[in-house]
Amino acid sequence: MEPLLHPEQVESGLCAAVAAGLVEAGTAQRVRVAARLVRAAAPLSGEALGRSLGLSRAAVHKHVDQLRAQGFPVESVAGSGYRLTGSVSDLLAPEALLFHVLQDATPPPGPPGAAFPEWTAGLPYRYYASCDSTNRVLREMIKGDSPPAGTLVVTDHQTRGRGRLDRIWRDEGGKDLMFSVLLRPALAPSQAHLLSLAAALAVAETLTSDVLGPSPLGSPRPPVQVKWPNDVMVEGRKLCGILLEGAMDGERLHWAVAGIGLNVNADTTGLLEVIEREDVGGLGTRPRPVSVQELAGGPVPRAPLLAALLRRLTKWWKDVESPEGRVSMLTALRERDPLQGQRVEIFAGTAGTEVLAGQAVGIGAEGQLLVRTDAGETVSVYAGDVSLRPPSR
Ligand code: BTN
Repeated sequence: MEPLLHPEQVESGLCAAVAAGLVEAGTAQRVRVAARLVRAAAPLSGEALGRSLGLSRAAVHKHVDQLRAQGFPVESVAGSGYRLTGSVSDLLAPEALLFHVLQDATPPPGPPGAAFPEWTAGLPYRYYASCDSTNRVLREMIKGDSPPAGTLVVTDHQTRGRGRLDRIWRDEGGKDLMFSVLLRPALAPSQAHLLSLAAALAVAETLTSDVLGPSPLGSPRPPVQVKWPNDVMVEGRKLCGILLEGAMDGERLHWAVAGIGLNVNADTTGLLEVIEREDVGGLGTRPRPVSVQELAGGPVPRAPLLAALLRRLTKWWKDVESPEGRVSMLTALRERDPLQGQRVEIFAGTAGTEVLAGQAVGIGAEGQLLVRTDAGETVSVYAGDVSLRPPSR
């Protein structure tokens, strides 16, 4: 899924993003150096790099050192310059991601410096090698200045990752995707759950179209499904979880933070052992984890995957603001609903109290789960945790 780099598009995107205050000038210069190194077939001299970027050799040297600190494998070849000795497509530093994100954001054709028409998930882009929780870091940013919609916080490792219902979200470090995006949608607080449904759909579609594709032997792959409200699953195993937090401002959602945790290259057997050992009650009735690598049959580079996710997330999050967009999002979601027709139990609250049981009969026009009780009444469920009910009960 490695996308080609289109230098003119990246350059016009960078100029527009710097002009809009979405990317710092120094980062933009390093992105340019990184993009040239990624494209180069032979070592690039500091002088040639500097000339093409309007920088001194010393400035190029400083940028290369910073790229190395971000994990770029840059070698200095005596007498000929710099070259990359390995791939950078698994790095999450802005210098490895922004060229993909900017290319996808496709600013309007026109002179460099043209403004972005609308927000894009991933701009501004904030990377931390490690943090407690990307949701918490982003919420902290909101308390300070007023970051724009689309602001992203991504990390290689969370020390206190949070799941729904006060659970812990674990990762192996440097293997998975954990990120949070700030949204400022024109939605009522009662519609906030549409943002997490849209996010789950975006993840499922991206994995299906951009990563997994048809199986190598030609037999169809098991579908990537969205178990209401927002777990992304394959054959009953969980690939991705979403934690949505928000604040109201009268009749409107003031902001929402959508936190997404996707098992990409993690060893899920090890993860399961840790959950069984450390969580009260172990995994219990929760689904077993699975990773994208297990489904793809080999390691998956995270940078192009994150860029592809951000593109689809931007699309669906913008769409759910309009009635027509909501209809198409829910139509696409219903095609990935594994609960349809199943006996289910709905649990609520951190104590996980069962509040309802019956047959799931679909997803309603407002994104609610429709459950037909044994008394024949159809109930709309807007929040809760769903388990498939064992047939014997
Ligand atoms: C769930 O319980 O299924 C939701 C898991 C959400 C995990 C993500 S990882 C990035 C973001 N930061 C957090 O602390 N949690 C979310």
